[in-house]
Amino acid sequence: MNKLDYIRKSKSLFMKWNLHALTQPFSGLLGNGMNMGHLSKWRKEHPVKGYNDFYQSTWDYTRRFKLYEAIAQQENLLEQPLDYMEFGVAGGFSFKWWMEKNQLADSRFYGFDTFEGLPEKWGAFEKGSMAYAMDSLQINDPRASLIKGLFQQTLNPFLEQYENRNRKLIHIDSDLFSAALFTLTQLYRFLKPGDIILFDEFAVPQHEFLAFKIFTESFYINYDVIGAANNYLFVAVKMKEASY
Ligand SMILES: C[S@@+](CC[C@H](N)C(=O)[O-])C[C@H]1O[C@@H](n2cnc3c(N)ncnc32)[C@H](O)[C@@H]1O
Repeated sequence: MNKLDYIRKSKSLFMKWNLHALTQPFSGLLGNGMNMGHLSKWRKEHPVKGYNDFYQSTWDYTRRFKLYEAIAQQENLLEQPLDYMEFGVAGGFSFKWWMEKNQLADSRFYGFDTFEGLPEKWGAFEKGSMAYAMDSLQINDPRASLIKGLFQQTLNPFLEQYENRNRKLIHIDSDLFSAALFTLTQLYRFLKPGDIILFDEFAVPQHEFLAFKIFTESFYINYDVIGAANNYLFVAVKMKEASY
């Protein structure tokens, strides 16, 4: 048996012997450690061209608003019409922040959520956590549309009639790997240089970060990191021309 056949045979045997029964109990821990390493390497390889508060010895969720302020200034986001798309609206706190700050009549604000909470368990958060009834948000701005349902069911019908006009500010705040990967890959063909993608839980190695890593590496996405806050929990990236 040559070396290649030997490797192939061992792989088949591992499956025959149900290797997963041995590895599954440790898969969370091992996966987390490995992806934490990828995140650390990514940080070294992607210097932030703009606001960055790293390193902080404490954790503060309100630092996301400092990042929003900073990128709004850096990129002049309040003086130009935007298409703001938020994936994971929940109570609408970040959604309303951007809508109140950017008052231009031609801006449009699209908020996607189940409004029934997370469709899967996420860490300590059970399925159904973070549920806010859509009507309780009381958003009456005519520039805003809330789109209720799973992204996996609502995004493509939305994109079929979407006019790709304004600069896009895409806010991924859905926490889950599945939701982030689905959203990024479906939006791929609409992305233009200058569009910005904001992440709200980037530093969670098995979720938004992993989805971003797989997306950017598989679609050969060229980007700059233009902001980071709260030890990279909140991150902003800007699309560049593709360079194959
Ligand atoms: C952290 S909350 C959003 C917080 C919000 N942006 C804020 O500023 O307070 C995450 C939201 O993502 C939504 N979500 C996650 N995955 C989803 C999916 N596949 N489809 C629709 N909504 C999803 C959940 O329902 C939840 O409301």
